[in-house]
Amino acid sequence: MNHAYKEPLIVQEVAPRDGLQIEKQWVETADKIALIDGLSACGFTRIEAGSFVSPKAIPALRDGDAVFGGIRREAGVIYVALVPNVKGAERALAARADELNLVMSASQTHNRANMRMSCESSLAGFGDVVRLASAKVSLNATVATAFGCPFEGRIDEDRVVSIVRTYREMGITGITLADTTGMANPRQVARLVARVLEDVPAADLTLHFHNTRGLGLANVLAAYDAGARRFDAALGGLGGCPFAPGASGNICTEDLVNMCDEMGIPTGIDLQKLIALSRTLPALVGHEVSGQVAKAGRNCDLHPVPEYVLAL
Ligand code: COA
Ligand code: ZN
Repeated sequence: MNHAYKEPLIVQEVAPRDGLQIEKQWVETADKIALIDGLSACGFTRIEAGSFVSPKAIPALRDGDAVFGGIRREAGVIYVALVPNVKGAERALAARADELNLVMSASQTHNRANMRMSCESSLAGFGDVVRLASAKVSLNATVATAFGCPFEGRIDEDRVVSIVRTYREMGITGITLADTTGMANPRQVARLVARVLEDVPAADLTLHFHNTRGLGLANVLAAYDAGARRFDAALGGLGGCPFAPGASGNICTEDLVNMCDEMGIPTGIDLQKLIALSRTLPALVGHEVSGQVAKAGRNCDLHPVPEYVLAL
């Protein structure tokens, strides 16, 4: 038995942000609030509850102010807001977000597609956000396309490490390495996580995987084995970046929690409640979702033995 598997794995739920940002069908503000309140009751300590970006870029989340205003704040839960610039940070502070998540891509091309600016301009804006917000809330910054870019392909690991150092030198404590379009593999993940953990304590590092090519949970285990302890995941496996061709869902929260439960890795999350909440998603978004455990049930959800078997 591997005793390392006793160390808690922290799941940050991102369905209200990464999950809903790509959905075509408008989700009413009240339904977003109900989803976040439902998630708050499942045992998460961190929920990315929305973004404060240009409403033209992401119309699906244009009601972030009202969503943050309407949610029930559960004690011990950090409600995170994704922001791209100072305007977003001002809106997020006004809406009482507990933490701001700044995003820039390692790839210049994806940053231009997603944020309509160079990496240098993004970083300059982050400096302004740090000056505005660092005394008020905690800050996290994401390196998007850290494991590969749909436009540029391979991403130099030295570049990712150097962006992480720049973020930390700017005074941004939390770091997320994001595999925006599911290009990472477990060996690459183990290597990059080990390198980044030389500079960043595990408590400050989050891994953000998409399951675009089916490697999501394998990448989680590789990162966990390399010492990472915090992971983003989305209920039902919703999610994706609308400005990355071929993007699809995040790793699925209930699939991740089920894996942890079966392996004995503590998460503090109530899987049964999570599955019940996930089963409400198809009605909310208007289509089936990719998560598997909500369809299959838990291992312990046993079926009645068929009559013909009892009769044998
Ligand atoms: N919140 C609300 N509105 C914002 C905003 C914010 N954070 N940032 C900019 N805007 C508005 C401006 O006020 C302006 O409005 P107007 O046209 O009514 O005058 C408009 O958006 C354009 O502003 P500008 O600063 O020129 O932005 P841009 O068009 O160069 O786009 C971003 C830059 C960063 C604002 C935009 O690309 C963006 O929001 N990207 C985020 C994409 C995203 O969320 N991706 C998925 C998550 S990683
Ligand atoms: Zn994502």
